[in-house]
Amino acid sequence: MSARILSGKEFAAKFKEDAAKRARALEEKYGVTPGLAVIIVGEDPASQVYVRNKDRACQELALYSEVIRLPETVTEQELTARIDELNYDKRIHGILVQLPLPGALARREKEITGRILPEKDVDGFHPVNVGRLVMGEPGLVPCTPAGCLKMLELAGIAMDGARAVVVGRSNIVGKPMASLLLRENATVTVCHSHTKDLAAVTREADILVAAVGRPGFIRADMVKPGATVIDVGINRLPPDADHPRGKLVGDVDFAGAAEVAGAITPVPGGVGLLTVAMLMENVVTAAACQLA
Ligand code: GUN
Repeated sequence: MSARILSGKEFAAKFKEDAAKRARALEEKYGVTPGLAVIIVGEDPASQVYVRNKDRACQELALYSEVIRLPETVTEQELTARIDELNYDKRIHGILVQLPLPGALARREKEITGRILPEKDVDGFHPVNVGRLVMGEPGLVPCTPAGCLKMLELAGIAMDGARAVVVGRSNIVGKPMASLLLRENATVTVCHSHTKDLAAVTREADILVAAVGRPGFIRADMVKPGATVIDVGINRLPPDADHPRGKLVGDVDFAGAAEVAGAITPVPGGVGLLTVAMLMENVVTAAACQLA
C-alpha cells in the first residue's frame, strides 16, 4: 500500500471544531444558539440511525436540536404544515427531512423538501440553493460533497487546474460535487451509466470521485498513478461468516486502488463521517446568515 489514507474521523473532528467555534461566537456576540430540526417519517432503521447521529452531533456541539417523528400515515398536507411551522420558528435555523420518505410521499419528495425555506435548507436540496451553487454564489451546499471539498482543501490537494472526474450524477452527490470542483477551477468530467470507455476517462483523473453505489466498481486499473481517490459509496455486501451483518464497502476496490493512488478515502471511516460534521457547519452558516 502506498497511498496516503485520508481519514474521515480526523477531518470530521476538525469540521466539528470549526462549527463549534463559530457557534460559540454567535452565542457570545448575538445570544443566538444555532438550531436544527430533523423530520423523520416512518420507521426505516437506517434512517433512525442517521437521525440519531445528527441529533447527537448537535448535542456534542451544544446546538439546539429537535427531532420530529411522524407516522408513516402522515399526509403530505400535514407534513408540509409542520415544515411551515418550522420555517417560521425563530429557534430553528436549519430544517432537514430525512430521506427516503416512505410510500406515496416518496413520489412527492421534491415538493416536500422544496417547502423548506432556502435559507433554512441545510441539505442544500432546494432549487434556489442548487442554482446558487451552479452560479458560483454563496448558499447552502449538500453536506456530503461540501465535506469532500473541504477535506480536499484541508488535505492540500491541488484543485486549480486539476483534472477531476466524478463518477455518478445524482442530485445529492455527483452534480453538486462537479459544481464545487468547477468553482475551484478544476477541469471536471461527469461520468454515468452511459459513458463509453469509462476506464479511459477515469485514468485521466487527478481527482477521482466515485458515487455510484456499486461495490468495487472502480478498479485499480481505472486509477491514474498518484491520483486522489474519494470514495463516496457505502454498500453492504451479503452476510458471510466474518461479517454476519454484511461487510460495508465503498465503490472503489480499496486494496487495489491504494497501491496506485496518491491519496484515498477508506470505507468505512472515510467520507461517511464528514456528512454529519458538514451538516453542523451548514446549521451554523444558516444561523449566521439569518442574523443579517
Ligand atoms: N438520507 C440519506 N442521506 C441523506 C441526506 O444527505 N439528507 C437527507 N435529508 N436524507 C438523507
